[in-house]
Amino acid sequence: MCGIVGYTGPRPVAATLFHGLRRLEYRGYDSAGLGIQEDGGIRVIKRRGNLDHLEPLLGDLPGEGGTGIAHTRWATHGVPSTENAHPHLDCRGRIAVVHNGIIENYQELERGLTSRGHRFRSRTDTEVLVHLVEENYRGDLLEAVRAAMPKIRGTYAAVFLSADEPGVLVGARKDSPLLLGLGEGENFLASATLAFLDFTRRAVSLENGDLVRVTDDDWVILDINGGSVERKVFEVPFDATAVQKGGYSDFMLKEIHEQPQAWMDTLRGRMSPGNRLRIEELEEDRFDLREINRIIFVSCGTSYHASLLGRYVMEGWMDIPVEVDISSEFYYRAPKLDPRCLVVAVSQSGETADTMSAVRWAKRCGAPTLAVVNVVGSMMARESDGVLYTHAGPEIGVAATKTFLAQVAAVYLLGLYLGQERGLLEPEFVRHTLRELEDLTGRIEEVLGDTDTVERCADKYCRCEDFLFLGRNINYPLAMEAALKLKEISYIHAEGYPAGEMKHGPIALLHPGFPVVALIPRDSVYEKMKGNVEEVRARQAPVIAVATQGDAEIRSCCEEVIYVPEVKPQYYPVVMAPALQLFAYHVAKMRGCNVDQPRNLAKTVTVE
Ligand code: AGP
Repeated sequence: MCGIVGYTGPRPVAATLFHGLRRLEYRGYDSAGLGIQEDGGIRVIKRRGNLDHLEPLLGDLPGEGGTGIAHTRWATHGVPSTENAHPHLDCRGRIAVVHNGIIENYQELERGLTSRGHRFRSRTDTEVLVHLVEENYRGDLLEAVRAAMPKIRGTYAAVFLSADEPGVLVGARKDSPLLLGLGEGENFLASATLAFLDFTRRAVSLENGDLVRVTDDDWVILDINGGSVERKVFEVPFDATAVQKGGYSDFMLKEIHEQPQAWMDTLRGRMSPGNRLRIEELEEDRFDLREINRIIFVSCGTSYHASLLGRYVMEGWMDIPVEVDISSEFYYRAPKLDPRCLVVAVSQSGETADTMSAVRWAKRCGAPTLAVVNVVGSMMARESDGVLYTHAGPEIGVAATKTFLAQVAAVYLLGLYLGQERGLLEPEFVRHTLRELEDLTGRIEEVLGDTDTVERCADKYCRCEDFLFLGRNINYPLAMEAALKLKEISYIHAEGYPAGEMKHGPIALLHPGFPVVALIPRDSVYEKMKGNVEEVRARQAPVIAVATQGDAEIRSCCEEVIYVPEVKPQYYPVVMAPALQLFAYHVAKMRGCNVDQPRNLAKTVTVE
């Protein structure tokens, strides 16, 4: 969380930095600021609130090229306020810093610095960074940062600027993302490639412990001992048009409608000429899939729901147990792992701190790790033994939509692949199933093309303050995902529950103003779900059913029915997810919420 941008080059510096911030606003938006080299000093402007509050202050900043840093914040230490917004300056106003991460030992450092005469202006953990660098500054910013960073405990991506070194940016990275964007006669440092994608697609991912010095025509990376480090330049696999709204009112709506593409792109090109399913990324012999005797998924939020769904599919196709853990709890459970246990980390960003910790625990135990991630080159992709990419493209809306469906595609693929490699699935079955999965693209399009009922339901129930989503079997994780979507963007209290469990407690909550969304397609648990719907009706709570097209019977026991196309039972989550996302979207819009930037949330959660 928090977005940082640094720029040096001939473009109008304030406007270029602000443009980068706009692209990173999904990472945090409680306050923002810029620091620019100007007239031998550093000019800082910052403001509480999102970028719309900062924009009016840009007018009197230099319109020409130059060097500067910028930040959009998601508060961890210190309330969202103008004083706590970044950049932070040293005592003399000659050095500035923007930071993403948490400095764990900041209080201890602050006490020491204060006793040595430093005066602090904010209540953030970040400010110690700039005072430490000030204390070590002897005319060389890179050296001062190199001397200061070993004193820090915690996580950071930080970019520094000194008034005494025109045209120079210095960056440091540990456990929070920082990338170098390489232009012609200009360079960038940023939390994500989106910040510079309009100007260059060439980038370098910095690794933990890297320090970088950047000018408009040069860059050098050092380790903490001052040794030079080689890092690979890569090309960002999409261009700037992918991060524009493309005629939609919100990114979330655009991303919901991009799901047929995300689904197809994740499945595409997986069949080898020999008619075998191939996941090239998994063929590098870093672990032997035939040796695996247990699989554990680790993930958070929406990615956790995709993982739960994966378990239902995989257990049907495989002979080994599949467990699913919430990343932030995995560590405490301290599960016994060994080299035959495959740990699969599922994450859109590939940077989520909780999931990263789970991956590191697995590695420490000697277990092989596989990352299912969307962001190419992300930390999880780099640190895991193998990586399976979801090809959803960039997702800007804080609420995950198209990346959820792409993760579901990836876990289906993974299940098929493991079943094939372990000799449990016939080649014909694998081929046929892959074709069925590809054919679902058309069904997803159908759902997205007919949204009248979803909108009517949203209109009818958008003033309710509680919702219960019920599902059984493979639709239970989807019930949880639908509830998460609704609560995060509309601020309505919602719970996703296994339908059979409702009578053990939540049924006590029901009343006529408490709608229940029942996921009740025509599958093996249809009759049981119907029984649960009757239980709800007996408590006078209204029922919205999400059911199979043509199921007339369900109409008689529900207030509303959202129909989805008929598919095989194990594929219903794929066609129901877009309808439920749209329901959450319309409810939130009708309540006047900002669906792309819901309050208190950040797209990438890089703190534990
Ligand atoms: C999803 O809508 C949420 N914004 C959130 O739960 C998210 O899925 C979670 O933070 C995990 O992120 P990741 O997939 O990037 O690891």
